[in-house]
Amino acid sequence: MKNYTICVLAGDGIGPEIMAQGIAVLRAAADKCGFGLTLTEGLIGGAAIDATGGPLPAETVRLCKQADAVMLGAVGGPKWDNIEKAIRPERGLLGIRKELGLFANLRPATIFPELKAACLLRPDIVEGGIDIMIVRELTGDVYFGEPKGEKTVDGERAGYNTMIYRESEIRRIARVAFEAARKRGRKVCSVDKANVLDVSQLWREIVIDEHKNYPDVELSHMYVDNAAMQLVRWPAQFDVIVTGNLFGDILSDEAAVITGSIGMLPSASLGAQNPGLYEPIHGSAPDIAGQDKANPLATILSVAMLLRHSFDQEQGAAMIEKAVRTVLQQGYRTGDIMQQGAQGLKLVGCREMGKLVAANL
Ligand code: NAD
Ligand code: IPM
Ligand code: MN
Repeated sequence: MKNYTICVLAGDGIGPEIMAQGIAVLRAAADKCGFGLTLTEGLIGGAAIDATGGPLPAETVRLCKQADAVMLGAVGGPKWDNIEKAIRPERGLLGIRKELGLFANLRPATIFPELKAACLLRPDIVEGGIDIMIVRELTGDVYFGEPKGEKTVDGERAGYNTMIYRESEIRRIARVAFEAARKRGRKVCSVDKANVLDVSQLWREIVIDEHKNYPDVELSHMYVDNAAMQLVRWPAQFDVIVTGNLFGDILSDEAAVITGSIGMLPSASLGAQNPGLYEPIHGSAPDIAGQDKANPLATILSVAMLLRHSFDQEQGAAMIEKAVRTVLQQGYRTGDIMQQGAQGLKLVGCREMGKLVAANL
């Protein structure tokens, strides 16, 4: 029997709650599909700061590199908001992405038919369905650009970061987007701010050049401000969106609302060699942490992405996605996707939702 090692980084806030349900579903899927699991656990974020003084202990990096894949919950919270910026919890997450070379972040925004009514957009806008793949560059941009910091300008304090992309970084993420499009609707929309930013002008130039290798894929370009507007005006126009780290972060939270809730959107972070990392796109949700209210479906759907991308277990992935759909069809909802006044819906907590999905595999 095939055996996989998965490093689990639960993190902070709702992290441990959603992760417990993700793991329960993963174990159930392993039983059904006939593969073995070895789980290791690493500290990250605030939990790691409390235990070791830093957000990404060397031991965590070692455990991740030894694993076949990594699952992450979420990091951060008010407890660590005023900590020295170099050791903030979020640095742990950025650090592990960088350490593992996870430059490609796939964030699929699809709407389950059962959740159309939970979407904030007018019903006719989402009627035909939504299926967008946001390909977000994850290890470059203003997130990692140097120089950065604080200096004095004309006698006053100024904070600054550097928005920078190297040609090779643009090329490799463009390739991921074009390859993804080939397996889907064969359309890529590259989102930038080339009317203003030098970094975006290079981005656009390189994407156009790389497109020469993908004549079967249709390429379009959009400025990020318009893209933010088009996403809610007419989301069905998009197939694959490729964009930089910061724009991708913002647009994917926006896309999440189209799916009903940020609690529904999974992600896969992939690199050239190291294990992939799978996580919901949302944060640690301090406002609902510890109350069994969090929606674990984004994490559970991230488990499906793990099976698909890291283990080539398409059957297991599809099984999980189908079980999620079944549970939604049965009317079960966590608070974030509950429609007030709707008939036949049953409000459940995080634990119950996880149990239901596992039971429906
Ligand atoms: P957030 O995503 O944690 O929460 C935003 C809103 O969405 C909150 O009202 C929250 O209750 C709700 N929400 C989020 N996930 C949910 C779920 N699974 N089920 C139901 N509701 C959910 O964003 P924030 O409040 O801006 O950030 C809180 C902390 O999380 C900050 O410290 C931030 O840095 C961190 N963060 C971490 C990650 C990550 O670990 N990947 C991502 C984003 C934010
Ligand atoms: C995300 C988060 C992170 C990001 C933060 C917590 C570092 O918002 O995963 O979307 O900005 O990438
Ligand atoms: Mn984000």
